[in-house]
Amino acid sequence: MSRYVVVTDDAALPGRLRSAATGQLDGVVHQWQGARLPVWPADIRNELAEPGDLDVVVLGPGMPLDLALALTTKFEAESPDVAVLLAAPADPGVVLSALRAGARDLLEPDADAPAITALLHRAVGSAGRRRSAPSDQTAPGGRAGRVIAVVSPKGGVGKTTVASNLAIGFAKSAPHGTVLVDLDLQFGDVGSALAITPEHSVYDAVHGPARRDTMVLKTFLSAHPSGLYALCSPDSPAAAAELTGDDVTHLLEQLASQYRYVVVDTAPGLSDHTLAALDKATDFVFVSGPDVPGVRGMRKELDVLAELGMHPLKRHMVLNSADFKAGITLRDVESALGTSIDVVIPHSRAVALSTNQGSPLLYGTARGPATKAFQKLLARFVAPIASPRRYGPRHRIGA
Ligand SMILES: Nc1ncnc2c1ncn2[C@@H]1O[C@H](COP(=O)(O)OP(=O)(O)O)[C@@H](O)[C@H]1O
Ligand SMILES: [Mg+2]
Repeated sequence: MSRYVVVTDDAALPGRLRSAATGQLDGVVHQWQGARLPVWPADIRNELAEPGDLDVVVLGPGMPLDLALALTTKFEAESPDVAVLLAAPADPGVVLSALRAGARDLLEPDADAPAITALLHRAVGSAGRRRSAPSDQTAPGGRAGRVIAVVSPKGGVGKTTVASNLAIGFAKSAPHGTVLVDLDLQFGDVGSALAITPEHSVYDAVHGPARRDTMVLKTFLSAHPSGLYALCSPDSPAAAAELTGDDVTHLLEQLASQYRYVVVDTAPGLSDHTLAALDKATDFVFVSGPDVPGVRGMRKELDVLAELGMHPLKRHMVLNSADFKAGITLRDVESALGTSIDVVIPHSRAVALSTNQGSPLLYGTARGPATKAFQKLLARFVAPIASPRRYGPRHRIGA
């Protein structure tokens, strides 16, 4: 038996919901009776005889949008198994804010009975799925999510390509449980790789109220249709100077407390920001091209991190854009690196095309050799990791 609560001053909506649910869904519709509008999920639960019995909350019409969004965010953080529907006209601004806040859907105020029934079916279904598999949605109860830093000493080797494909791959198995953070703070292109136009950036996320309140932070994330969230780099390259390594540390801690997978794309080299990300990361993904300078640079980076005592729980060595026709073999690369390569991503026109189209290969259904390589990389993260992290406090180069 499902329970729907509707908070509205619209006299007709509760009745329309009731008739849409009758005979279709096993549940009761409860109209909010409090004199003041609810601010916390508990305000709504307190109205119910069985406070635990709550599946769907419909907010509006008649509830100011900012109050409805704030309450939605609180439900998302506190009770992600409750589906919140906003009753509001679906204009693009509202849709985006609703997604950011964690609303499951929008209910057009004048929707007809079949549309309401379909919406309730979807909402009850997603509430049930979240309840039966909560660990697939967010960081498992109390345990921090996995932080995956994608790094390389060089630019143009495929960090953003690898990070965005990994993030989309995680989002497909854990919708709303994955966030991709663009720490290439000066020239990041995660927004372009995903064809999204963010309203907010990493800068907004570390300054102001989001820093203190993870629920606010969530509203700064940009939603991708795959169920992935992204936090893009600032528009202005100058903004990077106003972010410290400590800002990055704090941000990643906040995100890892909320999301199962936090994928971090980085700028070339080992800046303070990248070192802070590596310090918080459970997984390092090293990306190199199949050229002698690139491989030598990677070897140096591995040596520096070892000297700093920074060892991830799991390391993933990726050789990208490999065609092995330019006088270098996989064996040459591995002996120069002093370690084996875990995944070879072939040079592929499909990858270049996917960048230009803003649609990572793992978002689509095509199955070429590059897609298979991304899937092989993704599969390395499926096995759970149990042992605690081993490295100590953060180290900085040249500090
Ligand atoms: N395996 C590949 N085959 C062909 N082109 C690739 C491959 N990997 C990356 N690219 C292209 O190389 C360019 C740089 O990749 P990008 O991921 O932005 O690198 P980085 O983030 O390291 O600077 C992009 O245009 C991308 O499409
Ligand atoms: Mg990049």
